[in-house]
Amino acid sequence: MSRGFLPSGIGRMPLHWAAAVLIGVAIGYGPAGGAHAQQPHARGDLDARVARFLDNARGSWADMNVPARDGQILHDLVVQGNFRRILEIGTSTGHSTIWLAWAAAKTGGRVTTIEIDAKRYRTALANFSTAGLSAYVDARLGDAHRLVPALSGPVDFVFCDADKEWLWQYFRDLEPKIVPGGCFAAHNVLWQGDPGVERFLEYVRQNPKFRTTIERGSGEGLSVSCRISP
Ligand SMILES: C[S@@+](CC[C@H](N)C(=O)[O-])C[C@H]1O[C@@H](n2cnc3c(N)ncnc32)[C@H](O)[C@@H]1O
Repeated sequence: MSRGFLPSGIGRMPLHWAAAVLIGVAIGYGPAGGAHAQQPHARGDLDARVARFLDNARGSWADMNVPARDGQILHDLVVQGNFRRILEIGTSTGHSTIWLAWAAAKTGGRVTTIEIDAKRYRTALANFSTAGLSAYVDARLGDAHRLVPALSGPVDFVFCDADKEWLWQYFRDLEPKIVPGGCFAAHNVLWQGDPGVERFLEYVRQNPKFRTTIERGSGEGLSVSCRISP
């Protein structure tokens, strides 16, 4: 797995800025203006609340949600990459969003997430609120086929967990908006014989600007394609 990239944007900064940002991140604060950087005690409270929520909800996710193990991988990718501008396609009732938003709370970032089904979207909103993560989520109800191309970039991290037949197209729409060091992750890529997954994997594996690895995780498979050149 590619974990060696600098935090997004830092590679383009003068050295002394980059050092200041890295020091700021190391002591628990995002860059200046990071909307959600928190004091250590508040972070501890939030961590406890999210952990309690995930613990209580364990075993009750029934809307095509990611297994907890894959949620943990997503969380770790975001924290390790220090990703802040996060996009999710396919919210459902919000399990993966909670893991991503928990990570965003640590990096000073925010998750934009898109869901087409109104009932699942409403349940997700309630879950974000119960978990204490609403401030870290911009949840949108609508068709991602239309909403994704209209999003302004740049983006640091994408998690795609929606209609597989559109996976290649989502990547194509977002490819120019992913920053160097940023990554596009797709769920269920170990589904054998799925034409949407196959078309997507073939494309990203042959793309010289991205390096793609596969995390087995729960067994569903999570591809992670990280931009290695502008
Ligand atoms: C596998 S579920 C997502 C699970 C979610 N990531 C989680 O872990 O809780 C896929 C979701 O994508 C949504 N979806 C499918 N096509 C979509 C589209 N074109 N636009 C937005 N959402 C879509 C479905 O309604 C469904 O709720």
